[in-house]
Formats: sequence, structure tokens, C-alpha cells
Amino acid sequence: MEEMELLFSASEIAARVGELGRRISEDYRGRELVLVGVLKGAFMIIADLARAITTPLQIDFVRAASYGQATSSCGEVRLSKDLELDPTGRHLLLVEDIVDSGRTMAKLKQHLLAKGAASVRICALIDKSERREVEVEVDYPGFTNAGGFLVGYGLDCAERHRQYPAVYRIRE
Ligand code: IMP
Ligand code: MG
Repeated sequence: MEEMELLFSASEIAARVGELGRRISEDYRGRELVLVGVLKGAFMIIADLARAITTPLQIDFVRAASYGQATSSCGEVRLSKDLELDPTGRHLLLVEDIVDSGRTMAKLKQHLLAKGAASVRICALIDKSERREVEVEVDYPGFTNAGGFLVGYGLDCAERHRQYPAVYRIRE
């Protein structure tokens, strides 16, 4: 049986996402932003983040699948759904649930810059920077120092537990 330990409460997450939204609004003042949610894990943070940003923005989604299951992306990252908006000359902000090895974000960032984006930054609810295998900087991290396997607020374990309003650590 899996046991869950509360790591970030709904109110802590709301406060942190609100702060990120204010910072992003200041940093992108005068430029129109495209929030690019990485499906499926980012569906909850992107909804809250979009409402916390006060500057003009558009929203689009990509989906990246990594070979191998559940706990981390091993090796190859494949883009299974591309942007629908034209990124040429646009300022994109990738919104992700967790950056772990960094492979998914490295691949997406490279892909979007190659398609002609003017800039690509990264916002992630959780930055597991100590687990990085490829170099990727999270420009807007929600929380760091979050070890173990996490679920809730979009994060899943084999597609379960995404719907929780808080983030939990799973203990097996
Ligand atoms: P990366 O390519 O190794 O950075 O993988 C990032 C992806 O792995 C995230 O988008 C998540 O889907 C998944 N992932 C990594 N750690 C966790 C976790 O603790 N809980 C749920 N998913 C995770
Ligand atoms: Mg993900």
C-alpha cells in the first residue's frame, strides 16, 4: 500500500503561484507572452498561473512523452503534440509540473527555438535541480528541495492522483 505525506498545501501552492505570476507579469511587461503548458502534468498550474498574470498572453499546449514509465524520463523524449500557434518571433514560457533530469525541457526548448521563437523560458512547479542530467535552468521555479516521488496538483503516479489540490510525497 502507498502512504502519502503532505508536502505543499493548497494554500502554499496558491501563494507561490501568485508570486510567480506577479514576477512574470513584471518581466514580460510590454511583450505578449505565450504560455506553453506541457501536458498532462501542467494542466493545474497553468490554469492558476494564467489567472495570476496581468499582462496579455496566449495559451497553447505541447505533449512530450518519454520512453520508459512513471518515475522519470529515461533517455529519448518524443514530442507527441506540437504547438498550434506559430511560435515565430514569440516569447514563450514553458509551464511544466516537475523538471527532473531536464531531458524533457531541454528537448522542448531546443525544438521551440528551432521553430523560430524569440525567447523560451521555463516555469515549473517543482525544480528537482539536484537530479539534473542535462543542463537546463528553470527561470521561474515554484519549489525546490522536494525529494522523493510526488503526486497531486497535476502530478501523477501511473495516471493517478493528479486531481489533488495539494502535493504529496509517496512512501511505499
Ligand atoms: P525529466 O525529463 O527527467 O526532467 O522529466 C520530467 C517529467 O518526469 C515530469 O514532467 C514528470 O512527468 C515526470 N516526473 C519526474 N519526477 C516526478 C515525480 O516526482 N512525480 C511525478 N512525475 C514526475
Ligand atoms: Mg510531465
